[in-house]
Amino acid sequence: MKKSRLIIISNRLPVTAYKSGEDWLLQPSSGGLVSGINAWLATQKNFAESEFIWIGWPGSEIPELNQPVIQEVLMREHKAVPVFLNKHQEDTFYAGFCNRTIWPLFHYFPSFVDFSEKNFESYVEVNQLFANTALQIIEPGDTVWVHDYQLMMLPGMIREKLENLKIGFFLHIPFPTYEMFRLLPLQWQKDLMHGVTGADLIGFHTHDYTHYFMRSVSRSIGYEVNEGKIMTPNRQISVDTFPMGIEFNRYFEGSQSQESLKYFEKIRSEFKETKIVLSLDRLDYSKGIANRLLGFEIFLEKFPEWRGKVILYMVVVPSRANVDQYRKMKAQIDELAGRINGRFGRLDWQPIHYQYRSLSFPELTAIYRASQAALVTPLRDGMNLVAKEYVACQIDDAGILILSEFAGAVRELAEAVIINPNHARDIAQGLHTALTMSNEEKAKRNMAMRQRTKRYDVIRWVTEFLESLDQIKEEQDRLTGILLNEKDLTSIRASIKKAKKPILFLDYDGTLVDFFPHPNMSKPDAELKKILVDLAKVAPVCIITGRDRASIEDWFDELPVSVIAEHGIWFRPADEQWRRLKNPVISWKDEIHEDLKLISDRLPGSFVEEKEFSLVLHFRNADPEQVNLRIAGITDELKLRSKLYPIQILNGNKIVEIRAAGVDKGSAARDILGQWNIDFVFAAGDDLTDEDLFKGLPENSITIKIGRSGHTSARYRVSDFAAFRNVLTTIANSSSS
Ligand code: UDP
Ligand code: G6P
Repeated sequence: MKKSRLIIISNRLPVTAYKSGEDWLLQPSSGGLVSGINAWLATQKNFAESEFIWIGWPGSEIPELNQPVIQEVLMREHKAVPVFLNKHQEDTFYAGFCNRTIWPLFHYFPSFVDFSEKNFESYVEVNQLFANTALQIIEPGDTVWVHDYQLMMLPGMIREKLENLKIGFFLHIPFPTYEMFRLLPLQWQKDLMHGVTGADLIGFHTHDYTHYFMRSVSRSIGYEVNEGKIMTPNRQISVDTFPMGIEFNRYFEGSQSQESLKYFEKIRSEFKETKIVLSLDRLDYSKGIANRLLGFEIFLEKFPEWRGKVILYMVVVPSRANVDQYRKMKAQIDELAGRINGRFGRLDWQPIHYQYRSLSFPELTAIYRASQAALVTPLRDGMNLVAKEYVACQIDDAGILILSEFAGAVRELAEAVIINPNHARDIAQGLHTALTMSNEEKAKRNMAMRQRTKRYDVIRWVTEFLESLDQIKEEQDRLTGILLNEKDLTSIRASIKKAKKPILFLDYDGTLVDFFPHPNMSKPDAELKKILVDLAKVAPVCIITGRDRASIEDWFDELPVSVIAEHGIWFRPADEQWRRLKNPVISWKDEIHEDLKLISDRLPGSFVEEKEFSLVLHFRNADPEQVNLRIAGITDELKLRSKLYPIQILNGNKIVEIRAAGVDKGSAARDILGQWNIDFVFAAGDDLTDEDLFKGLPENSITIKIGRSGHTSARYRVSDFAAFRNVLTTIANSSSS
């Protein structure tokens, strides 16, 4: 049997193409995403070519003429498939929406955010380009893993074409609080969220990001979120935290390799007794490099005894030079480093040793090992792998990490010297603490961090993510297992035809029509009317709804259907008058109505609907966070009341209904079955009130739950109202077949 393949899709490929003279060459890409996945890939020695593909952008505009050769080399040497972008797309998508909108916003730099409509359009267009490339490659059974903020629309775009594909999404940068996310125009928020929730599993580095994301999903697109699960209209998906690790042994052993030792000795002989403080990051304003320099300046000011005895070994890795904020920042860093060197430098000592370049792996491990402290001071960072790599290379325990409280990695590296990067004095003090820390203390702290970094490494990160993805898919499959299929439908049609006295009980909202912001907006449309007319020729149709009869008085007048209203209090056989099926006590109504009005006053967007025998608190349009906070309390309070009065409390779809006890769709249906001598029942509904119906019907009834999520005692499921209309149309056609 063919093994399923893993398809990684990220904007950045592991190698970047660049032009050298007349030739195009490939060099390793920088950044945490590539470095993490590459490290994991390196451990998968047995990965056959047929089992893995990486789709992404090779990082430059490559003339069409050269594309075929680059494409061929990428596939042969890196199992990579390129998505070529033109200059305009590079400017508007990559430098534009990705790095001038999402990146600054998600890293809490709202003043840097560009709200360009044109760039957003380009983002959608390029995501579609990625989708088109991916769709040519993906085969049934593949696992697709989409990475990072550049491709948030991609899961949804792939899902549109391949409904059952296993798709994961991981965000490598912070997900901000809703207050930040909502700065985006609502339509962009919705498009991004619909895109990401096309995945089956969505992963983040920390619990905070996971939590903020769930909140934004609920606020911007109104999906129900609960304990790491999101109910989309047709699938239940998972959201979870997977802190990305490094390949520990590669760094631990790499720092002891011959090549690394060569560089290590070179550095040590250059700086001799001088202590080295390492500063290493991509050029990025989120990394807090300027704050770090100011902190170092204050350190030299406040602790003059360190002058001449310590240097800041600052490596800035070139990045995103085509974005103006990055260019400005480069100029600012150059200027600051120059000023500090000018202010404190002596003939025999320059405080800052500044390099603007990439490091090779042996150079990297050598400088990690050779430095006595590392200043990792991002203002915000999704994770920060440099911090973990530094810890892994402390084989002599000569150094200690100084870490920003705003790096995702701080959750796992709590033994570092933790600082607030916005506070230059805090950085200076942290540096002093680190440089004066005893060897025993350093060894103790490093040991704890080392163990954690080793245990939760990149292999575990990938494995846990992919295992969780398999699990959520299995859960979905269990639910899909009872999705109504063609065969079931054929047999249902036959049973209806064969029956002497069949009946079709159909719930209304969510079953025959979609939900609308207000209940009076969902009148039957022309398509539905036609379906009901045709259906009634096959078997008697009875709409069974919780709505009160006044609200639907004329909706079904000209249709050949019976109606049960208010969950079974009223019944109107086709072409007849309303008659009462039940006569419950309603002495409780006024008092509870007052209570509900008070609750609704405190829940903006909600409203109370009064029916003859029940009251409904609607909160579809209320703030979902407030609803979550308050609804449990409200239900508990009402449940206490139900001990005093003959009422029952029902949590429906974005409503709580309080209605007279002893009234439910199940008992109403049973009344009709008895009166009409029914011998075959077909019933469908979407929410809790319909579960009463399903449970109250004879065993051999055909019961259908509309919606793929939530528990049900129905025998089958149909994904949504639109799909259910198709089912009904097929049944209606039985009369002619
Ligand atoms: N790195 C690199 N080139 C260099 C120096 C470092 O690619 O010249 C690697 C570094 O080892 C680390 C990654 O780049 O694995 C940076 O990841 P991090 O999570 O710290 O930050 P990001 O750049 O992803 O924001
Ligand atoms: C961060 C992002 C990655 C990105 C990397 C380098 O790690 O999370 O998605 O690839 O920075 O940035 P670049 O813009 O060069 O791809």
